[in-house]
Amino acid sequence: MRTVYVNGAYVPENEARVSVFDRGFLFADGIYEVAAVIGGKLIDFPAHLNRLHRSADELGLRVDASNEELLAIHRELISRNGISEGVVYMQMTRGVADRDFAYDTDSMEPTLVLFTQSRPLLETSTSKNGMSIVSVEDIRWGRCDIKTVQLLYPSMAKMEARSRGADDAWLVRDGMVTEGSSSNAFIVTGNGIIVTRPLSNAILPGITRSALMSYAAATGTRIAERTFSIEEAKDAAEAFVTSASVFVGPVISIDGVELSGGKPGPVTMGLRKTYITESLKRAN
Ligand code: PDD
Repeated sequence: MRTVYVNGAYVPENEARVSVFDRGFLFADGIYEVAAVIGGKLIDFPAHLNRLHRSADELGLRVDASNEELLAIHRELISRNGISEGVVYMQMTRGVADRDFAYDTDSMEPTLVLFTQSRPLLETSTSKNGMSIVSVEDIRWGRCDIKTVQLLYPSMAKMEARSRGADDAWLVRDGMVTEGSSSNAFIVTGNGIIVTRPLSNAILPGITRSALMSYAAATGTRIAERTFSIEEAKDAAEAFVTSASVFVGPVISIDGVELSGGKPGPVTMGLRKTYITESLKRAN
């Protein structure tokens, strides 16, 4: 049985408790981060902490734990649960108060929960065979740049994809791809330029996206941050997604149209290798 962390205590998962009055539960009033673990070490961890603080600031949430404490909790859970490959999930909510739309953050204790998930990340069926994507309308709220636990629509989009026989969904607003249900979206043009949507309130500023772009730029890969349509994506040489749990995940079809011969593309797989090599060098 896993050991999880709840508000200062390491407890067996079946003994972990959060109040029914927690605003995370009642109002999705909380934020989260997911950091990958390879060889027992955290990938891109400082960037995940930076984004946690940014999300907290945007929502006026208090982060009571220091960065050193948060790193120590991550490490303790990795060690107690013997995680070699997997993820650490960290969620922070505004805390517990009687149900009311209005809140008084200062009088509340934030809730902090962390748990691990052990799973293969380096060799997966997605990394080997790629994933099929269908497009789904993006009807999420106007602050997709904040990593909140308000994930009902992304879950529904993924289920819609599954019901249409695909692996995942790309979200489309006004004909332009915003991002994946839980990843950032990229295409590779015929002349090898990597294209991804620029940061705005419409997408999450992915940690993997930003790390990959800096590694790719350092190796001379050309990158264009611009919007692209779902039609352009179907015509692209290759496509892929980035996220902390997938790293660089090849896309082999979009709305039934095959890309790169229905196999993971060479540029994508090169970028995956670069990302894994470079991020391991910097692992915590
Ligand atoms: N999801 N866009 C969305 C909507 C996401 O939910 C995620 C991550 C990303 C990629 O961000 P990053 O590279 O920082 O993981 C982009 C995580 C993995 C999740 O919800 O499990």
